[in-house]
Amino acid sequence: MAKQKTVFFCKDCGTQSPKWQGKCPGCGEWNTLVEEELVSNEGQNWEEEKKIKLSKPVLIDEIKIDHEQRIKTNDHELDRVLGGGLVRGSLVLIGGEPGIGKSTLLLQIALQLSSRNILYVSGEESEQQIKMRAQRIGRQSSSLYILTETNLNAIFNQIKSLKPSVLIIDSIQTMFADKIEAAPGSISQVRQCTAELMKYAKKTNTPIFLIGHITKEGSLAGPKILEHMVDTVIQFEGDRHLSYRILRTTKNRFGSTSELGIYEMQSNGLRQVSNPSEILISQREDGLSGISIGASLEGNRPLLIEIQSLVSPAAYGTPQRSSTGFDSKRLNMLLAVLEKRGGYRLGMQDVFLNIAGGLRIDDPAIDLAVAVSIISSLEEAPIPKKTCFAAEIGLGGEIRAVNRIENRILEAEKLGFEQIYISEYNKKGLNFSRINMEIKAYSKLDSVLSTLIN
Ligand code: TYD
Ligand code: MG
Repeated sequence: MAKQKTVFFCKDCGTQSPKWQGKCPGCGEWNTLVEEELVSNEGQNWEEEKKIKLSKPVLIDEIKIDHEQRIKTNDHELDRVLGGGLVRGSLVLIGGEPGIGKSTLLLQIALQLSSRNILYVSGEESEQQIKMRAQRIGRQSSSLYILTETNLNAIFNQIKSLKPSVLIIDSIQTMFADKIEAAPGSISQVRQCTAELMKYAKKTNTPIFLIGHITKEGSLAGPKILEHMVDTVIQFEGDRHLSYRILRTTKNRFGSTSELGIYEMQSNGLRQVSNPSEILISQREDGLSGISIGASLEGNRPLLIEIQSLVSPAAYGTPQRSSTGFDSKRLNMLLAVLEKRGGYRLGMQDVFLNIAGGLRIDDPAIDLAVAVSIISSLEEAPIPKKTCFAAEIGLGGEIRAVNRIENRILEAEKLGFEQIYISEYNKKGLNFSRINMEIKAYSKLDSVLSTLIN
């Protein structure tokens, strides 16, 4: 019989404490400690102990890699986000707000996977509901099994006979292990279930997708430890009122974390968006001020994005600064640079900044496009339609170089842009034989602004 013991866990960060405290010793939040039972695993892991004794050090040169390690999901967006396909034996956590489309995405993937015996375990919906969704997506599969179950032991019993090649758990918060008495969704249950699934994945080399809920604050529900345990953490995000959905990795043991996958939610499931720049740039009218295009890079993929600003005199005392999709601290910095180095009077103006399409961009290369769009709105001077920007702005008002400038330029050219403003320092290494568009290279922000706006 396993020994039972109760401990206190922080709901936010998962810190464990032997006694109750008002303030979490880990993250410093108040009233986040909850009492839960802990099962010690003493004496259970004999099998693993034996294995540990048997394993020997191996020369790295002698380790053989099975070339079939990655399974293609036939979904280019997901494959890229995963780093080139699904790694066998990996545990992938997909988090997102309710209703964003996690179940739809994974059902869709399950329906189009070409491997045999895929098992989709749902603790949230009935078989009929899942079938209805599959019909809506309009795909059929003769290798997808659906199991509606929340008891992990019962699931493992089924798995033993089915031997699925890919396992999907929707969602980890509805699952429970018999060993622990805490309710499903509690920290210790989530942890225990994930640990058991992890063991299964590694032992049998089966890849597992876990769907996870997100808390009000936007982090994955359950402790941070959950994120430490799995191999890959993917966020599925987007504005529920817009149809675009973005897959973003926040952790990936088998690939880069800067890749993005973009989908559009349609009436018959999620459609992959393979050329996002086309949809991110609105079919705008000529002569609209406050709009500029930045040549950004998300992972390896160049992305042209539209930046919209609205600058207008503040009606009530303190001016408002608001930005959607762009870091507001960075916006304040750019405003200060424009004020101090460019001489623009922005102190008494409301500034609203928006990245079109509901995207969130961290790439500093869009600084120049942001600054230009603000001044374009302030001066009511539209920016020519076929012009775009790729440069960072420094505190001294200097135009700084950005990485992989050629990729950005070539993408802009492909989309029909005729002019790109970059940093003088980026121009030096450019291979002009491949470039047909006009390159405008500058080293100072005020000279860019005075050529564009007068
Ligand atoms: P769902 O996958 O249930 O979200 P989650 O599992 O993240 O909670 O997605 C539900 C939403 O997606 C719902 O609002 C309806 C919408 N939807 C479509 O627009 N088209 C579709 O083909 C499907 C299946 C769902
Ligand atoms: Mg769901």
